[in-house]
Amino acid sequence: MARPAPVAVALDAPDLDTAARWAGLVTPHVSTVKIGLELYLRYGPDVVATVRGASGVHVFLDLKLHDIPATVAGAARAVSRLRPEILTVHASAGPEMIRAAVEAAPGTNVAAVTVLTSLGDDDLTAVGMNGTVSDVVRRMSALAVSAGARGLVCSPHEVAAVRAEVGPDVTLITPGVRPAGSDINDQARVATPEEAIQSGADLLVIGRPITRAPDPGAAAARVAASLRRAFPATTP
Ligand code: C5P
Repeated sequence: MARPAPVAVALDAPDLDTAARWAGLVTPHVSTVKIGLELYLRYGPDVVATVRGASGVHVFLDLKLHDIPATVAGAARAVSRLRPEILTVHASAGPEMIRAAVEAAPGTNVAAVTVLTSLGDDDLTAVGMNGTVSDVVRRMSALAVSAGARGLVCSPHEVAAVRAEVGPDVTLITPGVRPAGSDINDQARVATPEEAIQSGADLLVIGRPITRAPDPGAAAARVAASLRRAFPATTP
């Protein structure tokens, strides 16, 4: 079996059984499954063990924490017992909060969300942030990495600039990825898996093009195969 592709399948399922079934189908082909806020809040911490099953798949806990440092430290410590590979926090909560999460969850890669892709330049002005989205993404990236974040979440359109800002050692995670020919759904600015990796992404978040396919396992296998074809040396 080839090494799993650097893809985190977003398990945005209506119920736990469906999430677990999707996880089982895609796990041989991808490195990671992503649990979002809705699934976690509905089913609680047990959701992690349920989707992981007996497999070695990495779990990406996308809780996007944002609170005072002591509260986020407590939350990060609580979920670190579930051994997620990745836990997200908001970079905009500041360096002290990011550092608190990193110190509280030493076995987990804390990844900082730079700017939500739902926000545009005008939204940033409205909440009092100076600069365009791309300025703020670069600023947040540098700040988060200085505070100890080992990963950053950004759109595929920003990933090259972020890579130039933070260097090779930070894991760059990009949602908004669509295999050629698939429905873009509500994602405004998308890139193909090959384009995102070419631009410098390390882990691609892909949800509906895989989970809503008639056969999610086959869809995940197709993405993995296309990445192997495009990057034979880096994704064997
Ligand atoms: O189904 P789709 O591939 O659009 O799913 C993308 C996943 O990535 C969803 O879980 C969504 O919440 C998440 N996400 C995103 N854009 C961001 C951050 C996270 O689409 N900026």
